[in-house]
Order: sequence, then C-alpha cells, then structure tokens
Amino acid sequence: MSLLALLRKQNRKTLFTTPSHGQKFFIFNKLRNIYKYDISETDAHDPQTALSEAEKRASKIYGTKYTHFLTNGSTSGIITSVLTCTNKGDKVLIWRNSHPSHHNAVKLAGCEPVFYDLPINKEWGVPDRTTPDILNLNGIKAVIVTSPTYEGIVSDIKEIKKACKNTYLIVDEAHGALYPFSDKLPESAVKIADFTIQSLHKTAGGLNPTALLHVNCDLDASKALSMINTTSPSYPLLASIEANINYLNSKRGRKSLNELISNLEELHTINFNFGGDDITKILIKKEGLSGYELSKKLFKEFNIEDEKTNEISTMLLCGIGTDDKKLEKLRKTLIKLS
Ligand SMILES: Cc1ncc(COP(=O)(O)O)c(C=O)c1O
Repeated sequence: MSLLALLRKQNRKTLFTTPSHGQKFFIFNKLRNIYKYDISETDAHDPQTALSEAEKRASKIYGTKYTHFLTNGSTSGIITSVLTCTNKGDKVLIWRNSHPSHHNAVKLAGCEPVFYDLPINKEWGVPDRTTPDILNLNGIKAVIVTSPTYEGIVSDIKEIKKACKNTYLIVDEAHGALYPFSDKLPESAVKIADFTIQSLHKTAGGLNPTALLHVNCDLDASKALSMINTTSPSYPLLASIEANINYLNSKRGRKSLNELISNLEELHTINFNFGGDDITKILIKKEGLSGYELSKKLFKEFNIEDEKTNEISTMLLCGIGTDDKKLEKLRKTLIKLS
C-alpha cells in the first residue's frame, strides 16, 4: 500500500489519541495550501530574524528566558537539553523506563547514565510521581523528570527544583503543553525547570511533530539544536507553531480550553472510576475487567480507541481538539458500562 493510500484509509473510530487536532484545520488553515508556504531559507527575506523574533514573542507568552520552536518533536528538545548542559563523561540521572529519547540523549552526549526507578501506583497500575527523595543527586550534572507521565501523573517540580542545587533540571512535559494556558490544569514547569520540553502535537492541537524547548537558565541551547536539526527547516511547520501558540494564548483558545475542561468536569460526575492528576487524560478502570479487557470492550463494542492501557486501567487522551460530540459519545458509553 502506498503511504498516500494508507493516509486515505481513514480511521472510522472515535479516537482519544494523539495528535490532538482531531484531523481538523482549526488552528492554522493556511496549511491547506502547504506547497505555497514551503520555501527554502534562501528564498525568504531574512527568515532567521523572523524566526528568532517569533521565538522571542513566544518566550514572553510563556515567561521563559528563551523558547525554541522544534519541528522534530520533544525528542529533539530532550537531546538538545542534555547536549547543552553536560560535558562528555558527566553523570545524567534518568528514569529507567523513560522515553527512549532520554537514554539516547545521554548516549549522544557521551555521558554516563545513572538510573532511578519510580514506584508503581498499585491502584491504577501506572508509574507514580517523582519525588526528591527518589533522586540521589550527588555528583549528578543533569536530571530528567517526566511530568506529567503518559497517564497524567504530575510531580511537584518546585520541590524537585529546590533539591537540584548543583544539578540542571530537565522536565519532559511532552504531554503537558496545555498547562500554561489554564489555572485548572496542573502547574507547568516552563518557569521553574532549567529546560522544559513540550509536544504541541500531543495535546495542544499542533501538527506532528511540532514541539517547544523552553530554557530558563543562562545556557544557550541554539548551538546544540543546530547540531541535530536539518539545515532545511520547514517554514510551514514553524509558522504553524507560532499560530498554535497564539491560538492557545488568545481569548478564543482559552475559551475553548475552558470548555474542554468543563466538559471533562461534567464527565467526572458520572459514576465511574477516574484517576490521575490531569483531567485531560481520562484514566479509567472498571471493577471485574482488567485495563486490557476494558480497552478491548471500548474498541470492539463502542468503536472508541484509547491511547494507553495497562493491567488495571486505560487512558483516553483529550486535547484542545477533542470536541463535545466525542465526549458525549464517551459519556454515554461510560454510563452504559457503569
Ligand atoms: C514522555 C514522552 N516524552 C517524549 C516523547 C517524545 O515526543 P515527540 O514524539 O514529540 O518527539 C514522548 C513521545 O511519545 C513521550 O511519551
């Protein structure tokens, strides 16, 4: 099958998965005509200045020292952070079961990985919070913390930052890109950690694989970023990042996020078992069914696809593009199941 045929074979399921735009052009409809905007560096008038000004405007919105636009996912932001704040041979503390980019970043930087483990939350079958007592920071140059986790478990980043006296703190907030835009969501790390990485595509309506690297220390990440980036950046994707941030920060964007949160609060009033710290990740379980059985039931009987499942629970991912219709279908389904 050709790739185009694969894309045309549209999934008819109700998706509670990434990407979060729900296959709709609601943020940046200029990309309907992607070829028109696909120019090379040399064809535009001073694109570098335009990009750095857009990034500076973004950093004002987020309250960071610098915000870099990434067109190769949070993966590239994590690698860049480690390359920026370490030297060959330094020790970097990472979660043993973290995303592969954490392990690869340490390897690429020529550093020595030191591992920590997270307890498993027995009630939900998911990795629990990272707390300062879990992290032995002696002799550690940088530590990477994943918050929120895939399933929406959020760590106290302020507490962890306090413990990081001589250690750079890198927060993988790939799944928390909506946090800076609502007080009803957990606090974002963007103003706390030395480096915070967010995937716009996962929850904030961005196109695959748009993401952000926020820097809050005095180090310059641009050199490391240029080592792993192509010299032919995609300006349509970069422009979509700027439009995405402006949308999230706009009245319209904030209203739509608030509506999503209200709908989710409403969903939580039904008689079902909900878990996690982040309401946009619907972590559910049902007595008498394993997480895998619940996931299978949702898929087979109700056409609903979840994002991640374990032995005990299953997680349905919502984002800024999750519309009322989808949530209403889920609400009715959960009522039937309960
Ligand atoms: C926790 C976590 N961190 C980082 C990444 C990498 O993000 P991206 O796909 O934007 O490169 C992922 C992707 O699934 C992830 O789950």
